[in-house]
Amino acid sequence: MPQCTEKTSLHAGFIGIIGAMDIEIEKIVSSMENHREETAGGLVFHLGTIRRRNCVAAVCGEGKVNSAICAQTMILRYDPRCIINVGVAGGIGEGIAIGDLVAASSVVQHDFDTSALGHKPGEIPSLKEVFLPADETLTNLALECAASVYDGGLHRGVIASGDQFIAGPDAFKRIREQFGALACEMEGASIGQVCFMNKTPFAVLRAISDNGNSTAHVDFPKFAQEAAEKSQKLMVELISRLPEA
Ligand code: ADE
Repeated sequence: MPQCTEKTSLHAGFIGIIGAMDIEIEKIVSSMENHREETAGGLVFHLGTIRRRNCVAAVCGEGKVNSAICAQTMILRYDPRCIINVGVAGGIGEGIAIGDLVAASSVVQHDFDTSALGHKPGEIPSLKEVFLPADETLTNLALECAASVYDGGLHRGVIASGDQFIAGPDAFKRIREQFGALACEMEGASIGQVCFMNKTPFAVLRAISDNGNSTAHVDFPKFAQEAAEKSQKLMVELISRLPEA
C-alpha cells in the first residue's frame, strides 16, 4: 500500500477538521476557545483552540469537488499537521448498524471508472492507485479514544465515496462487492486524495446514520443529527490526545 511519507509526526501545527454539513462540525466549533473566522474561496475556516491545540475546521458542502477544494485550500493556507474528515455515512458492510463508527483503513472513489481504458474500477490513473490509506497512527488513536467515549460498535475498513446518496440495493451491492467497503459517503476519498498528493496525514471517521438501503432516505434525516454529535464527541477526545503544539 502507498503511504503518506512526509508529515508523519502529527506533532506540530493546526489540526484540520472537515465536515460536509453544519451538523457535522458545529459542536467542534462551539468547543473552540479564542474562536475566529477567515473566509477563502467561499469557505469559512473556523480557527481556535480545543484543549490547547490549534485547530482549523470547515464545512465543505456535500460531494467530492466541494471537499477537495476545501482540503486543498486548508492545506495551502494553514499547512495542517493532519486533516480529519468527520461526519456521517451509510453503513453497507456486514453487521454495520446505525450508531456504529467506521474509521477508514483506506478510501476509494466508487464512481471513478476508467475501466473502458483498461484501468481497475476506482483506479485514479494519474496515481495508479485504487485505495489510498488513511494515516495508521491517527486512526489507531481515534479508535482507542472511541473505545472510551463511544457507545456504538467500532469498525475499521474501506470507506467508499462518490457523488451519490446511496439508497438502494444495486449501488449498495456494487460498492460492497467491488471494493469491500464498510461505509459509503460523499467526501472522504476526495479529501484523502488531496491529502495523499500533499503528503498530509488524514483520517476519515464516520458515524453511521443509515444503511444505504431502501429506507436510507428516511433513516438519514432521523439519525444524522445524533450520529453527527457522536462523531464530534469523539473528535474532542481525539484532539486532546494529539501532542500540544
Ligand atoms: N452519508 C450518509 N449516508 C449516506 C448514504 N447512504 N450515501 C451517501 N452518503 C451518505
